[in-house]
Amino acid sequence: MSETVEIFEVGPRDGLQNEARRIPTDQKVALVDCLSTAGFRRIEVASFVSPKWVPQMADSAQVLTRIARAPGVRYAALTPNMRGFEDARAAGADEVAIFGAASEGFSRANINASIAESLERFAPVMQAAQAAEMRVRGYVSCVTDCPYDGAIEPASVARVAGRLFEMGCYEISLGDTIGQATPERIDAMLAAVSQVVPVDRLAGHYHDTGGHALDNIEASLERGLRVFDAAVGGLGGCPYAPGAAGNVATEAVHDRLTKAGYRTGLDSDVLARAADMARKMRAG
Ligand code: HMG
Ligand code: MG
Repeated sequence: MSETVEIFEVGPRDGLQNEARRIPTDQKVALVDCLSTAGFRRIEVASFVSPKWVPQMADSAQVLTRIARAPGVRYAALTPNMRGFEDARAAGADEVAIFGAASEGFSRANINASIAESLERFAPVMQAAQAAEMRVRGYVSCVTDCPYDGAIEPASVARVAGRLFEMGCYEISLGDTIGQATPERIDAMLAAVSQVVPVDRLAGHYHDTGGHALDNIEASLERGLRVFDAAVGGLGGCPYAPGAAGNVATEAVHDRLTKAGYRTGLDSDVLARAADMARKMRAG
């Protein structure tokens, strides 16, 4: 029996957050509803951040309350602080994510806090989530390169990933935010991070700006990772990472994994339909 690799769909959040055109809530709900029939176990659909910082995510509560929830799918949301956590919980998020960075420059630009301040801000979110029995995922951005600080040392990534894991994150998603990583650098970064977080608690979150995301996934598979974030249709980017193009496309990851003999549990016809919807949303 072939081994399973999970694709964590982040298109409705990481994919859409960077779109300049305001996408109607109905279209977001329709995309999530389509994705809900594809076989994903987790879909990131919302982000409870300041609407001044990311206007596209301002209707996150409406999206979460209006989607048709499929059994067995967990719907996730980003929550940078207590206000975000409370709003996500009220809207019915099944799990939340706190998001930090391995570089000071990106941390400041993205969440207006130093790395140390961000970890302090996450602590009450973690406590509240634990009290509510909600799982918390942790992101680390800029795991090889930062748009502000340049190349990032593997040890800096390991430090932040280790702190998020110690705080109670059930999984740490490692973000190549600006898509500049290469397999060799991903390998070196994973060698350091896997000293402090077990590999079965790590996920790869690779943007495809430099065209190496699929090779970076392959390097990560060799290190034992079995969860990868991707966005249908290759949507995405981060408004606070200049030049960051889309997340690696879910359908491309699915194809690469399937050809390599892994099972994803995903229906490629539904993925193709969702990718088509995503591309039309981007085109307007
Ligand atoms: P701040 O300005 O330092 O915080 O922003 P503040 O507490 O002073 O609040 C400023 C304003 O935002 C206030 O409103 C607050 O009420 C409001 P005002 O008084 O000016 O009218 N506010 C909120 N509103 C709604 N929901 C909230 C909330 N919190 C405060 N939760 C803050 C700090 C964290 C809020 C801000 O920097 C922010 O929202 N940043 C989010 C940026 C973001 O979403 N980036 C993209 C996601 S990360 C990413 O894409 C990377 C990832 O994909 C991995 C990878 O690829 O590497 C995960
Ligand atoms: Mg991202």
